[in-house]
Amino acid sequence: MSTAEAGIASIGLQLPPLYMPVTELAELRNVDPDKYTKGLGCLDIALCPSGHDAATLAVGAAKRALSRWDGSIEDIGLIALGTESAKDMSRPLSAWVAEELGLSGTVRSYEVKHACYGGTLALRQALEWKWSGAGAKKAALVIASDVALYSVGDPGEPTQGAGAVAMIVDRPDAAAVSPISFPFSHPAFDFWRPVGDSFPSVDGQLSLDCYKNAVSECFRALIGGRDAREVLAEYRAICFHVPFPKMVKKSVIHLGEELGWSAQEAEELYRSKVEDALEWNQLSGNAYTASLWISVARALVGLKEGAPIAAFSYGSGYGAELLQLTAGPVAASAPWVSDVEEDLRARKPVDLWGYETLRGHARASA
Ligand code: COA
Repeated sequence: MSTAEAGIASIGLQLPPLYMPVTELAELRNVDPDKYTKGLGCLDIALCPSGHDAATLAVGAAKRALSRWDGSIEDIGLIALGTESAKDMSRPLSAWVAEELGLSGTVRSYEVKHACYGGTLALRQALEWKWSGAGAKKAALVIASDVALYSVGDPGEPTQGAGAVAMIVDRPDAAAVSPISFPFSHPAFDFWRPVGDSFPSVDGQLSLDCYKNAVSECFRALIGGRDAREVLAEYRAICFHVPFPKMVKKSVIHLGEELGWSAQEAEELYRSKVEDALEWNQLSGNAYTASLWISVARALVGLKEGAPIAAFSYGSGYGAELLQLTAGPVAASAPWVSDVEEDLRARKPVDLWGYETLRGHARASA
């Protein structure tokens, strides 16, 4: 393999062992459940019990990605972990993960922070490290892992979730990634977590506006002077960061408006290219950095080699980037489906009392 061909060789996912349907949360908060299911498009909130966190999720995802890759841990020369659930302001979360994996020596190990965009940045950096030749014969382990919790009673509570996606950057067996991407950033305080605060502060409406604007800017850059319909029709799937599923639909409708399309045409784009890839996100809830990559992993399932997909990453603050991928030969069989199936089968529901206890724990230990 020439370094220029490097892509995503292997994918592993990890969801936590607990969940709560948002309809249960609606009962607890005395809210019409339709607000959470129809208004926000949410189904389940994936939850971590005591002893599980972004590091354990990352380790689980990494072990699964490594188990279906033909290289070994000695072949990894870079571990980059995108997260906004850091345990420490100095020690990178990658150190906890590398310790568990037995990864040390001539390895660059670091954490990447840019809200929900951090996992994508970690992936881009790892790809650019390979494409530049700096990685030489080594591969990179990239992980996006987060536990998304809002303060109790916050409007963001029904959108909570957790999960991790690990990707090995080496031969493009699962997906190739184009070196050409479309970034956009604009400083804003739409969602932030000051040092020492356990939970984020959110300007809900501003965060929706920033996200929608970033979608428009990135897709306009992708389309350039070409025909928007023709450009978007090329993709088998269009994936998005998923703060909550309805946010994605709203952004597609907004993009359609910006392009001068009818609402019906934008709805059709959403239905044909976007909706199916949200299936796992509805079951994980928001997993911040991992959300987009959960959607990409779902979109790749069953695709023929060479099928193109687009992937829009967004991180509050705010920064965004639109990536172009093509399915690799392994996408047709997509062995990572078993990760999600296994975790969904094994996970246990949490009732209202269990949720309150868990949140009490989250408050005490955060
Ligand atoms: N049945 C059906 N839909 C209902 C409903 C009901 N009984 N009650 C409300 N809704 C709809 C609303 O009309 C609204 O839909 P619309 O936006 O299409 O009009 C939707 O449910 C949400 O209601 P809203 O009152 O706007 O919710 P909220 O203000 O309580 O919280 C967020 C919404 C997004 C602000 C909140 O979930 C949040 O802060 N999330 C975290 C931030 C985030 O994810 N930002 C995204 C970019 S990163």
